[in-house]
Amino acid sequence: THGPLRDTFGRVAKDLRVSVTDRCNLRCTYCMPAEGLDWMPADAVLSTDELIRVLTVAVRDLGIERIRFTGGEPLLRRDLEQIIAAVSALPQRPEIAMTTNGLGLTRRIDGLVDAGLNRINISLDTVDRERFAEITRRDRLDDVLAGLAAAKSAGLDPVKVNAVIPDRADLDAVVDLLAYCLEHGYELRIIEQMPLDADHAWQRARMVTADEILATLRTRFTLLDDPAPRGSAPAATWIVDGHRTARGPAKVGVIASVTRPFCGDCDRTRLTADGSLRNCLFASSETDLRSALRSLPDDEVDAAIAALWRTDMWQKATGHEVNVAGFQQPSRPMSAIGG
Ligand code: GTP
Ligand code: 5AD
Ligand code: SF4
Repeated sequence: THGPLRDTFGRVAKDLRVSVTDRCNLRCTYCMPAEGLDWMPADAVLSTDELIRVLTVAVRDLGIERIRFTGGEPLLRRDLEQIIAAVSALPQRPEIAMTTNGLGLTRRIDGLVDAGLNRINISLDTVDRERFAEITRRDRLDDVLAGLAAAKSAGLDPVKVNAVIPDRADLDAVVDLLAYCLEHGYELRIIEQMPLDADHAWQRARMVTADEILATLRTRFTLLDDPAPRGSAPAATWIVDGHRTARGPAKVGVIASVTRPFCGDCDRTRLTADGSLRNCLFASSETDLRSALRSLPDDEVDAAIAALWRTDMWQKATGHEVNVAGFQQPSRPMSAIGG
C-alpha cells in the first residue's frame, strides 16, 4: 500500500491541502453571501482523531511531503494545534503550512509554531479600512494587520499575503498594498479571482487579470524577472527592484489561475472538512473517505483510505476548463473546498 499518488499524466501529488472547516468569520463578497452558507453539520466534519488518521496515511503511505491547512477559516478549529502537533510528530514529518484570514492569530501563533507550523499565508485584499470592511463585511482590518505582525514576530519567514482584487475599481489601491507589504517585509501575491464563489456571480470579463495587475504595479515599481525556479507553485514571482527583505531581494507574486493556468505542473490533492477527496479545485466528482473511516473494521481503514486515494488521483483531469465554453462551476464553493 506504500508509494506515491500518481495520475495518468505523469504528475505526482506531494502537496495536500486540507480544509478543516467550511465556516468563516469574515464574509468576503467574492466568496460568501452576507448571511453565510448552510454549514456542514458538526457530525459530518471529521473529528480530531479522524483527521489525524487520514493525514497519517497520506504522509506515511502516500508520499505527501507538504500539508497546508485551509478553510473556511482554519483558526475556527480549536484543535488545530493538536492536529499540527500530531502531524509534526510523524517520522516522515511533512512541511506544515496554513492559509488564514489572520483573525485571532495573535493569540494562537505561538502555540501553532510550537506545534510545528512552518509557513503561513494570510489573506488581505486592501489596506484601506473602509474598503476592507466593504469587501469582508466586517470592520476587522486592524486584527488582520496585528495577525500579520504576530506571524512575523513568531519567526515565520516569509509571511505571505494573498490578495484578491474583486473589482477593477480596486486596482489602483494594489500599489498601496504592495508598499505596505514591502515596508513590513511580507511577500504579496495577487490572485486572479476564480469561478468558485457561492453566488455563481463570477464573470470572465469582470475578472481583473494578471496582466492588468502587473501593468498597475509597474506604474510605481520596477519588476525584474525572478531567476528562482517556480516548480509547482501557483504563483509566478518577480523581484521588486530596490527593495530587500531579511532573506534577500523582495518579491511579488501573481497567481494567474485563469489567464495562465499552471495545471501541467500541479502536485496537489485536496481533502474537504467532511472527509472527501478532490483531485482538483475544479473536480466534478469527489471520493468519500469518511464512510471508510466510520464503517470499516479498524484494521482495514488505513489500507482502504490509501486505495481510495490512489484511485481518486488516477482520475485527475489534465487541468481545469475555466477557459472552455460550457464550463460548469463545481457544486461546492471555495470555502468548502479549501482554495
Ligand atoms: P505557497 O506554497 O505559499 O505558494 O501557497 P499557495 O499559493 O499554493 O497556497 P494559498 O493557500 O496561499 O493559495 C493562494 C491562491 O492560490 C488561492 O487562491 C488558491 O485557491 C490558489 N491555488 C492554490 N492551489 C491551487 C491549485 O492547485 N489550482 C489553482 N487553480 N489555484 C490554486
Ligand atoms: N478565487 C481566487 N482566490 C480566492 N480566494 C477566495 N476566493 C477566491 C476565488 N474565488 C482566496 C482567499 C485566500 C485563498 C485561499 O484563496 O482570499 O487567500
Ligand atoms: Fe491542479 Fe486543478 Fe489547480 Fe489545475 S486547477 S493547478 S489541476 S488543482
